[in-house]
Amino acid sequence: MTDAWSARVDAYRASPTHREGADLDALVAWCEPGPDVEALDVATGGGHVARRLAEAGCRVTTCDAAEGMRPDVVCPAEALPFPDSSFDVVACRIAAHHFRDVAAAVREMARVTRRFVVVEDTLYADERVEEAERLRDPTHMRSYSEPGWRGLMEAAGLAVDRAERFPKRHPVEPWLARVGCTGETAARVRELLSHRMATDEAVWLDTKLLIRGRRGD
Ligand SMILES: C[S@@+](CC[C@H](N)C(=O)[O-])C[C@H]1O[C@@H](n2cnc3c(N)ncnc32)[C@H](O)[C@@H]1O
Repeated sequence: MTDAWSARVDAYRASPTHREGADLDALVAWCEPGPDVEALDVATGGGHVARRLAEAGCRVTTCDAAEGMRPDVVCPAEALPFPDSSFDVVACRIAAHHFRDVAAAVREMARVTRRFVVVEDTLYADERVEEAERLRDPTHMRSYSEPGWRGLMEAAGLAVDRAERFPKRHPVEPWLARVGCTGETAARVRELLSHRMATDEAVWLDTKLLIRGRRGD
């Protein structure tokens, strides 16, 4: 499953959806970055969170399950090879919907942070969108609602202190091209997303949830 990712490194480095946006700006601010802050970027992909946190002065470690993303540490989010309380903040952006065991991943992030876990992910919309996402990219496992995310954080011992939603516009062609989705499959994905299309049908709309959990002890 993760080998599929190694071939996508350039596409994810270049992707405007991933490279920039109000969601990324807010995530960085919620990490409360600074020169004494040690940060872990889980499922770093094209490395945009890590780059921004480093620019804000943090010492950043990156990890990802796919070697081709060239993280500092190759590991699944569900089994982080770091001692308890290794980082001030652990961030994970637009990746958790790919995790096989998201509860285990949140527990691991809670275990290795001293202060915050900051997660951004696609907010669950409906089953048509889930089917479209899985058809386009079989590495999509599932997205969660805001109550679902709050439950995951609280079950891992984190107190949720901030949550905010960010609308995102996805130009359909590059979104399909990024993962090599073409032909009849692409046509079916467009059909499934028809209720989420902008009026010009070149763009579809979703919402990202940014949520922060604070270590309670
Ligand atoms: C969309 S990219 C991440 C985007 C990136 N965080 C950003 O802000 O631009 C998703 C990443 O999740 C990684 N991934 C998928 N399943 C994973 C898992 N179980 N553990 C860790 N990384 C995983 C993939 O290798 C890929 O690099």
